[in-house]
Amino acid sequence: MQDQLNALRLEATEAVASVKNSEELTSVEIDFLGRKGKFTGLLKSLAEVPAEDRGRLGALANQNKKEIESLIASRRKELEDAKLSSLAESERDDVTEPGIRPPEGHLHIVSQAFREITSIFDKIGFTRTRYPEIDWDWYAFESLNMPPDHPARDEWETFFMDAPPSKMGKMVLTPHTSNSQVRELERGEFPVRMINIAKCYRRQSDTTHVPMFHQFEGLYVDKGVSIAHLCGVLDYFAKAFFGPERKTRLRPFHFRFTEPSFEIDVSCGVCGGTGIGADKQKCRVCKRGWLELGGAGMVHPNVLKAGKVDPKKYSGFAFGWGVERTYMMKEGMQIDDIRILYKNDLRFLKQF
Ligand code: FA5
Repeated sequence: MQDQLNALRLEATEAVASVKNSEELTSVEIDFLGRKGKFTGLLKSLAEVPAEDRGRLGALANQNKKEIESLIASRRKELEDAKLSSLAESERDDVTEPGIRPPEGHLHIVSQAFREITSIFDKIGFTRTRYPEIDWDWYAFESLNMPPDHPARDEWETFFMDAPPSKMGKMVLTPHTSNSQVRELERGEFPVRMINIAKCYRRQSDTTHVPMFHQFEGLYVDKGVSIAHLCGVLDYFAKAFFGPERKTRLRPFHFRFTEPSFEIDVSCGVCGGTGIGADKQKCRVCKRGWLELGGAGMVHPNVLKAGKVDPKKYSGFAFGWGVERTYMMKEGMQIDDIRILYKNDLRFLKQF
């Protein structure tokens, strides 16, 4: 019995020393000291040993049991300490570790277009200005030779503000950037060479229209400005923005604030201006070799007068193009629905 007790103590000591975690330790504890454990079983058999040996063997058994219990307790503490210190280790900041780069965004493609347009016009002396995007009817329409009930105003499909009118009429969300023309002329500094990029609002939404979009408005007023200057500036812009092989053309049109007025077309970059696609069918993008980008014309004498400029001394041209449409017509863009620009779909936006 004595040998059995000692052998069991040794076995338990080795088992406790070899455990790697507290779960294993608990199962060793149950194995030796549990109700059906090896040590408990041996203690029970004490009843069968001769009475004269029972006291001595009982004391030895108790001593062995205590030793095993204290071995288990100290191993448990050891394992817990090791666990705590490895946790602390992993939470500690290592200042020598390489940093984690935060995800980097980029400018929205419409903002990229603003920058590009601004820099192209800057090179020929046009300065970017800023005028209100909520303005009086006077600047948005009336000073532009469009009286209140003129049918042409229906085309602008304007949002009116729920605000008290003034002597300049109602307030509107600017439906075009042409509200900047008379405001710029009022400054009375010549030559006027302005590029105004701003938000515009109209009640429109389809594959080529969004209710909030941007236009860039050019205005050049000086002595002796002619249509030839207008053609030169538009051609310069088209070549700088779309590529040297692109051409522009003016088509007669009607705007109340310019006379004569034109719509501006740019030769299509997809079919090279032929109107015929690579599949020998009509070009998918333009169908006729040309793409329409915006309006232009020679500033109407009534607009010059509204801006306190003498039309006998000065003349000028103006143009207004959609930023989104212009950007969509860049080579390789292949955007067939303008609304995708404002869907905030990162899968689309990340490509640019
Ligand atoms: C105008 O707004 C005139 N103010 C342009 C102008 C300025 C003419 C100076 C003469 C002198 P129009 O309504 O055609 O014209 O709009 C010009 C361009 O804005 C369009 O060709 C198109 O590129 C863009 N555009 C108009 N409405 C929308 C819309 N809802 N969504 C996106 N782009 C639009």
